[in-house]
Amino acid sequence: MIKESSLAWGLDRAVRHLNHGSFGAVPQFALDRQAEYRALMEGAPVRWFVGVPQRIADARARVAPYLGVPVDDLAFVPNASAGASVVFTSLPVEHGCEIVVTDHGYGAVTMGAQRLARRWGGTVRTAHVPLAAGPQEACAAITAEFSDRTALVVLDHVTSPTARFLPVDLVSAAARERGIPVLVDGAHVPLVLEEPLAGVDCDVWVGNLHKFGCAPRGTGVLVARGPVRSELNPLVDSWGAGKPFPAAFDEQGTQDFTSWLAAPDALDVVEREIGWKAVRHNAADLVERGAQVVARAFTAATGEDHRVDVGMPAVPFRLVRLPRGLVLGGHELRDRVLAEFDVEAAFTAFGDDAFVRLAAHAYNTLDDYEDFAARVVPALLEWSH
Ligand SMILES: Cc1ncc(COP(=O)(O)O)c(C=O)c1O
Repeated sequence: MIKESSLAWGLDRAVRHLNHGSFGAVPQFALDRQAEYRALMEGAPVRWFVGVPQRIADARARVAPYLGVPVDDLAFVPNASAGASVVFTSLPVEHGCEIVVTDHGYGAVTMGAQRLARRWGGTVRTAHVPLAAGPQEACAAITAEFSDRTALVVLDHVTSPTARFLPVDLVSAAARERGIPVLVDGAHVPLVLEEPLAGVDCDVWVGNLHKFGCAPRGTGVLVARGPVRSELNPLVDSWGAGKPFPAAFDEQGTQDFTSWLAAPDALDVVEREIGWKAVRHNAADLVERGAQVVARAFTAATGEDHRVDVGMPAVPFRLVRLPRGLVLGGHELRDRVLAEFDVEAAFTAFGDDAFVRLAAHAYNTLDDYEDFAARVVPALLEWSH
């Protein structure tokens, strides 16, 4: 698709990038805008830093419509992990209480929930959500872990290892009825859904603009609603302390905030040059076709079906089941494939199965997946023997 677009990306054309999900990719225009902001910062640091809170507030106002949320519910944070950390460090101590997570959760965020449970002298309960579970079944599996001691639910909106949606709307509604606060980790969701929080009555939702949104890296967002807002403090306690949410998050000391300021430029340039609706539509279509190409290449060798039913598939991703017998872990596979083939891909696992998690974005073409099928699939088959 990029070939028909005037939009350029900072990607190395010698490397096939099939893993937009992990760290994204940034349009050159947004990188240039960020460089311009940096030049202003270096040219007159005092003028820059005095004006930074207002610039951040202005950037929030431009980003909010892309998430369909009021600007006053929205704060910038460095990334989704930081957003979750804000919640984990801000919530009042709940002695002996439980936190509910799922077995699809992002490992680092789940570890944060475990640390919080230890501080509370409580425990984490992990809901097992079957890979192919639809919304009702997934919701039932999660709410089955609720108890009178549940003080927090941490739920991925789009899961990292399994590339599926979880029914965050249903679970949030059930938690609301019982007065349990919900943190939704929507790291992958901004711009994947037009209005990610529509119908989702959670307390806090965090996401990354540097994933599908293509903003410069280090651009996370935190949306907070209801009474929890007054509890939340930025990770960096600075001159914003004491101000109400979200103004407190606009003042976090001396840092390079240029990625936050260039984020709306990244969103705008993709909207102007291609249109987010078209990006979403094309990514859904392309990743589906790409996954079929890759799955067929495995099937031709193994005779097995390598397609995967994840219940509620998340649009820009598809899983393809890897051949049994691969002893390399996900990161080892990622690193070896990158080193030997110049292909960036994500390898994940759930239960006894391992997968390649394919992604698609505006710069990908079917050729990327055909190349993976032709060069990488034979190697994965060989490594599995
Ligand atoms: C579900 C989920 N949460 C959190 C993160 C962490 O994102 P970041 O490293 O930008 O904080 C990721 C990263 O891929 C993720 O998939």
